[in-house]
Amino acid sequence: MPTRRSLLAGLAALPLLPRAGLAAEPTHRLRLAPAPMQIAPAQYGKTDLWGVNGSVPGPALRARQGERLRVEIDNALPQATSMHWHGIRIENAMDGVPGLTQDPIAPGETFTYDFVLPDAGTYWYHSHAQSVEQVERGLQGPLIIAEEESPDVDQDLVLMLDDIRLSSDASLDPQFAHPHDRSHAGRLGNVMLTNGQMDASFPVAEGERLRLRLINSANARIFALGLQGLTGWIMAYDGMPLETPEAIPERMLLAPAQRIDLIVDVTASAGEDAFLIQFERDGGYAQAILPVSAGTLRVRTAPAPLPPNPDHPIDLANASAATLRMEGGAMGRMRSASWKGEERDMRALAQAGQFWAFNGVVGRSDAPLVRAALGESVQITMTNDTAFPHAMHLHGMHFAEVLPEGRLGPLRDTLLMMRGETRTIAFNAHNPGKWLLHCHMLSHHAAGMGTWIEVVG
Ligand code: C2O
Ligand code: CU
Repeated sequence: MPTRRSLLAGLAALPLLPRAGLAAEPTHRLRLAPAPMQIAPAQYGKTDLWGVNGSVPGPALRARQGERLRVEIDNALPQATSMHWHGIRIENAMDGVPGLTQDPIAPGETFTYDFVLPDAGTYWYHSHAQSVEQVERGLQGPLIIAEEESPDVDQDLVLMLDDIRLSSDASLDPQFAHPHDRSHAGRLGNVMLTNGQMDASFPVAEGERLRLRLINSANARIFALGLQGLTGWIMAYDGMPLETPEAIPERMLLAPAQRIDLIVDVTASAGEDAFLIQFERDGGYAQAILPVSAGTLRVRTAPAPLPPNPDHPIDLANASAATLRMEGGAMGRMRSASWKGEERDMRALAQAGQFWAFNGVVGRSDAPLVRAALGESVQITMTNDTAFPHAMHLHGMHFAEVLPEGRLGPLRDTLLMMRGETRTIAFNAHNPGKWLLHCHMLSHHAAGMGTWIEVVG
């Protein structure tokens, strides 16, 4: 075995020529390790979080559209892990799903993800192993892909919204597999965070134009958001630009894993605060504060749409069709009980913490929901026959909702489905591999709400 010294000497002897036409692409190193942090006010203790390079959320990874991203994950956790690059139309082997696209990264091991970034926009990364616990503990961070030409704004701000559930001493509530969470709305937190802080503040100036990238990284909370002292447009959902920016409604719902890109102008005056508001049943709370300093108020015109990402057209007329019925949970029912395709007794399933089914199957079975040929269009009609909302996420490809008139809605990677709803999504199966389709309420996924799609080609 060569020593480090001899290795280095050997390397130094090689000519260091960059590959023609390509800038050097550095490898990001992300070390995942326990990182106790002061999240709660000072009179409480630290919270037993797990950090990415010592921070929660992890550092924002930034790259340009079309580039290759290389990230070495160094697992210094007491559990096996993996990293998923949420919303990236990624090469299948880099998707980070243990048991489907890779083996978990054992404690003490490393794994290097290396993939091309086809799309610009707002994405995020998070653990995809024991995610109820690992995402809650902090293994999550923004992944920001710049357009060739970014819109003209004064500030580009990432706001990662989360909620965590703390015990009275500020330690994390350790019951990550609580049957109530798994069978009801998932693990909801009691402390709201933006970028890991309870009182996140973003200084702005009067009249500034801001790009706000909102990411919901919570286990299960659906954020209902509003703005005060800011006015503007929705530019993109889940990374994908809208052809025509939309006026921001009074309330925006942001389901777990969803993103919204906004461009807003600061309309509050110097000395005031602008707010990102989070609405609860009893009123609005400041999710982020934007203290306003003196500046110049300007009359602004609406921003141009963001440049479109590569298109994979959906051919509805020739799409193959599948259905997915979501069942189970508290106040719900399950017609049949099979565990990953094998018959099981319902009571035994519930005792094992398995409460939900897709098409009567609890958990990911060996057979995909859909097997599609490369480039085929697929539509899936999903019915939420449960008493809870679910945030349905497809890996590897974005889909559009088929709207009543047969029009296609905006491209998304995560769709919020309210109780009782039936909605149809359609996509071009342009990305070969095995792709999860699951509820992003992480306790629901762990309790049975997961299937997959295979694109063969
Ligand atoms: Cu954001 Cu399957 O995950
Ligand atoms: Cu769900």
